[in-house]
Amino acid sequence: MVEIFIDGDRVEADDGQTVMQAARASGHVIPFFCWHPALSVPGNCRICMVEVEGDGTAQGWLDIACNMPVAKGMRVLTDSPRVRTRRKQMLELVTLNHPVDCGICDKAGECTLQDYHYEYNGAPSVSRDIKVHATKHHALSDRIVLDNERCILCSRCVRFTREISKTDSLGIQNRGDHSLVRASEDGAFARDPYSDNVIDICPVGALLSRTHLHQARVWYLEATPQVCPGCERGCSVDVWHRKSEWKLNRLDAGANARIDRVTPRENPAVNGPWICNKGRDLAKIFERPRALQAHLKGRVVDADAAVVAARALIAAARRPVALVSSWGSNEELAAFERALGKRFASYVKTDWLPVPGERIEDDLLIKPDKNPNRAGASALYRALDPDGRAALAGADLVLVWGEGCADAALPSGAKTIRLDAWEHPDNARADVFLPVSAQTERNGHHTNFAGVVSGFEACFAKPAGVADAEALFAMLAAVALVEAT
Ligand code: SF4
Ligand code: SF4
Ligand code: FES
Repeated sequence: MVEIFIDGDRVEADDGQTVMQAARASGHVIPFFCWHPALSVPGNCRICMVEVEGDGTAQGWLDIACNMPVAKGMRVLTDSPRVRTRRKQMLELVTLNHPVDCGICDKAGECTLQDYHYEYNGAPSVSRDIKVHATKHHALSDRIVLDNERCILCSRCVRFTREISKTDSLGIQNRGDHSLVRASEDGAFARDPYSDNVIDICPVGALLSRTHLHQARVWYLEATPQVCPGCERGCSVDVWHRKSEWKLNRLDAGANARIDRVTPRENPAVNGPWICNKGRDLAKIFERPRALQAHLKGRVVDADAAVVAARALIAAARRPVALVSSWGSNEELAAFERALGKRFASYVKTDWLPVPGERIEDDLLIKPDKNPNRAGASALYRALDPDGRAALAGADLVLVWGEGCADAALPSGAKTIRLDAWEHPDNARADVFLPVSAQTERNGHHTNFAGVVSGFEACFAKPAGVADAEALFAMLAAVALVEAT
């Protein structure tokens, strides 16, 4: 431990920590652009300049906090007049060629350049020369557009591909005010399954998502904690959607229940500050056509009639088998076990397999099992054998909860009860079909491959006619209780 003083406050810092790390750990604010806690330290933006006070024998000096190790007795000022003057000078340099684009920039509202400009500078450009122009819309990949005029050359994106995703697929060409971030010509950036993290870590609006481009101002949106269901890693994410007070009433009501973007929610036990691109694309999973109506053999009925029919099937069955979802939450699994666990022989099924072209596994985040709560389900039930024959032999009723089990895999002649959130041709062939809520419409927890439990919260209301599986299991429980008495 080393004792230092930051703005007069006594701070205990670890040996080897930088002033930036010690300041952040003790709640002192120092601005930064190029520094990122998970990347190497290039020290190129100089905005983190602090003043080290002299001690009577030596003069004080200005230095960058992100690359200065703490030293015993060091006295640091983070906001002295000298520091503020130097930061103002740095911002004059950084904004010399930066366009005044905030009004049309997707980063507005969460841009640190905008924030620091108003904190430390706030004055119009000191330059009398016209700004140097660069590419405004450079397609860095089919997912990301780059505005080189907004780029402040912090190199975070370059270091991300070098140090984290390890594709080494971005670099900086040329010198001085002709410098340009560019992707390598071999297409490695377009293939990088973690590429969208550079959008988050770009401190300005230079790197932008092409799907989110000009879709919403961030202050119209709010983030709800969710767990990515894309694989058994179960990354913590924020699902961004329109705030209720900014609900659209006339123009596009669909936008009120739309996922606007997905970003990582930092979780050191699961995903650190990163997610993969599949996690960014959760709208592709959650915004598929929804199953909204209960059916009896394809005939639309109200949910109560379907529940009554399902109860009758359960009561009549001699060997009922349940194929339990590996996408269900721990709460839903517990509700199933409470309500129907004794009545059914239950097995954990695979709801999702990898899709063609998808990365199966790597040593950063992506795991081979594309089912987020296999661990939670497997704590209660055995796995379904690969072809399901042993588990399903002799079954006269099969309850299929979730996706991934076509009718062809079920014993011919067995009655079927299906619960699913999305449209599927098998739904209409089931003896009873009950639509259930999607993960974005309920609270719950998943247990990931390493046993870490992560919670998620509802972002949207359930559509009319759709119930939570947890509630449906309780409604079907009456039969199990009757059977038991
Ligand atoms: S594009 Fe963004 S992250 Fe990359 S160097 Fe420029 S400012 Fe930094
Ligand atoms: S690694 Fe898996 S859980 Fe994490 S974002 Fe990607 S698909 Fe989702
Ligand atoms: S944050 Fe320290 S030099 Fe950029």
